[in-house]
Amino acid sequence: MSKTILITGASTGLGAAAARDLATGNTILIHYNRSREAAEGVKADVESAGGNALLFQADVGSESQCARLVSEVMAQTDKLDVLVNNAGGMIERCPLNEGPNWGLIDEIFRVNTYSAIYLTSALLPLLEAGSDPSVINITSIAVRTGAPTASIYAACKAALDSFTRGAARELAPRVRVNAVAPGVIETPFHEKYSTPERVQTFIDATPLKRTGTADQIAHAVRFLIENSFITGETVDVNGGMYMR
Ligand SMILES: NC(=O)c1ccc[n+]([C@@H]2O[C@H](COP(=O)([O-])OP(=O)(O)OC[C@H]3O[C@@H](n4cnc5c(N)ncnc54)[C@H](OP(=O)(O)O)[C@@H]3O)[C@@H](O)[C@H]2O)c1
Repeated sequence: MSKTILITGASTGLGAAAARDLATGNTILIHYNRSREAAEGVKADVESAGGNALLFQADVGSESQCARLVSEVMAQTDKLDVLVNNAGGMIERCPLNEGPNWGLIDEIFRVNTYSAIYLTSALLPLLEAGSDPSVINITSIAVRTGAPTASIYAACKAALDSFTRGAARELAPRVRVNAVAPGVIETPFHEKYSTPERVQTFIDATPLKRTGTADQIAHAVRFLIENSFITGETVDVNGGMYMR
């Protein structure tokens, strides 16, 4: 492909799988926050698959760190073909009957939503210099189904889903904007936020009776990169847990 691809949150889980899947012949800009060692492992894997890799560190929940990330990326490349806004997480589960926590609501939106909107806008000059440039936002099945004790997380991903369509219209015809909405996928995410019992209830509610793998999400990301007639779409990869 010979593309320059920035993947946020590429140290572990879905972002790392996408970096490895897209490695051959491409330059992968691997962003991470805390997991430096894991990010270095992804960089080594990208290089052994015949790709180029550069590492960037930033807490994307911080405006100033997002700004620093953008300037560091701009110092390394004069074009971007793909931006994958993947960094994110629930931060923590927030049962509504425990009362509101303004700071936590703010953090969940900053990490998952503000960051993706900020980076899409700030990196637009680089994307406009790319070849069939596209943005891919990683949302969630929670957008479709709601998520008890994670309704704020679901809402922030729903905002990102809506942003995907708005940006797709606004940035067409030059830049495509799409999303992937993963179901329950085996990554460190569920080790942080779900008990094994909760994961089992998700599996029970999934027609294919299993969790998905990070590679299956990477496959959907690759599909959206390669199909140049898709924009404003959200691809659901969830074992049938939600059907439109
Ligand atoms: N796994 C699932 O079932 C599932 C389902 C639906 C949606 N998703 C979404 O998929 C995306 C990837 O999650 P995952 O499953 O791959 O989980 P993961 O393994 O926990 O990966 C999360 C990634 O996001 C980065 N990150 C988290 N907070 C950050 C912050 N404040 N600043 C910068 N980077 C930050 C992490 O970086 P460091 O580790 O370097 O700090 C890590 O690279 C997330 O947006 C998540 O909401 C996952």
